[in-house]
Amino acid sequence: MKDALTTALSPDFLEREAARLGALLADHVRSAQRREGPVLVQRSIEEILAALDFDRTVAHGGADLAALVATVLDNSNRLHHPRYFGHQVAVPMLSSSLADLVHGVLNNGMAVYEMGPAGTAIERGLLRWMRGKIGWGAEGDGVITHGGSLGNLSALLACRERVAPGSFKAGVPPGLVLLASEAAHYSVARAAAILGLGVDAVVKVAVDDALRIIPGALSRAYEEVKRAGKRVLAVVANAGATPNGAFDPVREIGAFCRREGLWLHVDGAHGAAARFTERYRDLLDGVELADSLVCDMHKMLGTSTLACAVLVRDPAALAGTYEQYAPYLHGDDERQGVDLSKLTFECTKAQLSLKLFFNLALVGEAGLSAHVERLFDAARRFHGLLARRPAFECFGAPQANILCFRIGRDSATQDRVRRQIVEEGSFYITRTTLRGESWLRLVIMNPQTTDGDIEALAARIEALAVERAPPP
Ligand SMILES: Cc1ncc(COP(=O)(O)O)c(C=O)c1O
Repeated sequence: MKDALTTALSPDFLEREAARLGALLADHVRSAQRREGPVLVQRSIEEILAALDFDRTVAHGGADLAALVATVLDNSNRLHHPRYFGHQVAVPMLSSSLADLVHGVLNNGMAVYEMGPAGTAIERGLLRWMRGKIGWGAEGDGVITHGGSLGNLSALLACRERVAPGSFKAGVPPGLVLLASEAAHYSVARAAAILGLGVDAVVKVAVDDALRIIPGALSRAYEEVKRAGKRVLAVVANAGATPNGAFDPVREIGAFCRREGLWLHVDGAHGAAARFTERYRDLLDGVELADSLVCDMHKMLGTSTLACAVLVRDPAALAGTYEQYAPYLHGDDERQGVDLSKLTFECTKAQLSLKLFFNLALVGEAGLSAHVERLFDAARRFHGLLARRPAFECFGAPQANILCFRIGRDSATQDRVRRQIVEEGSFYITRTTLRGESWLRLVIMNPQTTDGDIEALAARIEALAVERAPPP
């Protein structure tokens, strides 16, 4: 036991095991990239625990980490396989994976500047860089959160501070609503509940056939809210809607919000990355009019999970979101730097900024732009390939890198085909419900996916669709 505790802090152990695990991980990525083996093998929880010899391992320790990691790898979704099509989780650039290792060793908790000066400085630098890209110039502030759900909540909390000041202490006044796209991510409804508005306070704004907010529907919804004697907390627009990657007309929505004095929050968790590209930046035309925006780095910016940039135009709104004072943390106003725990719900948090910083340090802005463009381009090409096969119907042309399509019209067939494809393991695809019907969904996250992979997937789906459904 004493020896093991010594080993746990031994630099020699780190050096030796990092080399062994590094070799294992590199082999894992290499074989996935060569399309060897399935994308995913799904075993039961009990089977996986048994393969890890879980009970004995936790009771006695002394296990061989490399052997355990081999079992973890065998029972994980292999995102580096070019036949992995989503969810909206990046195939991480390995530079960002190394950032996880660096953070894991340093473990700087970042609640206060002293507990992570480098991570904090890099976070401030990245957020400044992003604000420049979205056209706010030197304006605004921001914070990085563990993911887009928390990011949306954080931005809307900052908004609440401006629209209904004092809510943090006294609770929210009655009659506040959110105007959000019908295609908004479910975290917006959750945020409404947590903000104290309740889920029913999310007024859904109608969308067109491509799931983009109809500007006329927005102004009608707003008039109805006013007639009902209620007040709008924020308008939430999508820059990359979850179901199909649709971009709302942000310029028109922004102009409307400016006219009416409403806070515009852009949920760019998926698609804000388009703003960092050369060729797709206009998908976010008008984003400079937004009051807040979120951008998940672990979706389109090639980082491992989770890292979400929350940008807020009014620094005072963000700074006023949280009022708690923790004497053990925030006791000395004379210290230098910024204490990030004053800007986010989280107290301790990981040095999330390292992930994107390491990616940029490797590929630069131009490389990041090329990465996003490549995925968006691929979705357009794959849409063309599917649209040419008469068996398939596409849910419109993709704006981003999410493609929805179906074979036949029967929802049960889509669900069965998707289940069978995933069980076979040779592809990983997702499904969604659009206008009450099931559709197959591909999120093109892997830059190494080729036209041949899509043709092979299409052929397999066609073959499965004509098979009779297995008996229940
Ligand atoms: C548009 C949108 N917003 C928010 C989220 C939530 O992000 P996260 O999974 O990082 O919490 C998602 C996730 O898919 C999303 O697509």
